[in-house]
Amino acid sequence: MPASRSVPRKFARLLGIALLVAVAAGAVLREPAQSPAAPSVSTFAPVDDLLTYVDSCLESFAPVLASAEAYDRGKARLEKDADSLAAVALALHLHDQEHRLKHHAGVMFHAAQRLATAADYAAAQHAWGALQAANRRETSAVPELAWQRAGEMGIVMKQVTLLHNKLKRGARPGSRFEAGAEENARLATVLAVLAQCTQADVPTGTNPADTAKWYDLCAEMRDYCSQTSQALHARDQAATATALDRVEQNCNACHDVFRKQR
Ligand code: HEC
Repeated sequence: MPASRSVPRKFARLLGIALLVAVAAGAVLREPAQSPAAPSVSTFAPVDDLLTYVDSCLESFAPVLASAEAYDRGKARLEKDADSLAAVALALHLHDQEHRLKHHAGVMFHAAQRLATAADYAAAQHAWGALQAANRRETSAVPELAWQRAGEMGIVMKQVTLLHNKLKRGARPGSRFEAGAEENARLATVLAVLAQCTQADVPTGTNPADTAKWYDLCAEMRDYCSQTSQALHARDQAATATALDRVEQNCNACHDVFRKQR
């Protein structure tokens, strides 16, 4: 009886197709958007800004690590700066241009993170030793790292606020603008790489439908901070103020969606 055999077979095929369609639809609806590929690092973070920031961190960390007392006093600030240094080291590791730390920045990234999260002075000293060794290019391992968060979001945001406020103070017209422009250009680049790291750190509990929004807002922060840096490098006060306004609108746009969810 060929006819009666083919009915269940047809039914099974239809059921199979229906299942496939349901699974595919579910995947589209439920899978969060994929993290977009980052642009070449040189398009948003000049290598010289990053290397000079590394130098300035090593200089400012040394006295904080000199004694247990100094460490206790300076720990809160060090923790935030070490997160920024981790982001900068990761950008150097992934950079598309050659530079002196190309093969050591990956180890520096891990050392900076260990310094940021050290439980006590001994652990901090250990991480500090590894950080200095990486800066002296005395590392052998070359980890292969992807863009990822530099540190815990709450701490990164405190650092973002400090840097952003400093940029706003320095952006006002007048003699301070010129005097601070070079350092502020560097700090705007640091903000751009922090934004790129943050893109990989979608807050837990984010509605999958909002994931693409997170990626876009982080990319916007990166690009507006990079524009701020370029305007500062060019000593263009008006362009700096315009770019910083965009940065601030972006802070608020992201908080409107993502700070409420937490
Ligand atoms: C892509 C999204 C996003 C952008 C852009 C963003 N933030 Fe945030 N911000 C967050 C999230 C999420 C939190 C909540 C973090 C937490 O509590 O762990 C937060 C928290 C904060 C906090 C509170 C930190 C605390 O716990 O004390 C401050 C301050 C802050 N952001 C400042 C800023 C500033 C200034 C900017 C712009 C220069 C900015 N943020 C840009 C997502 C963003």
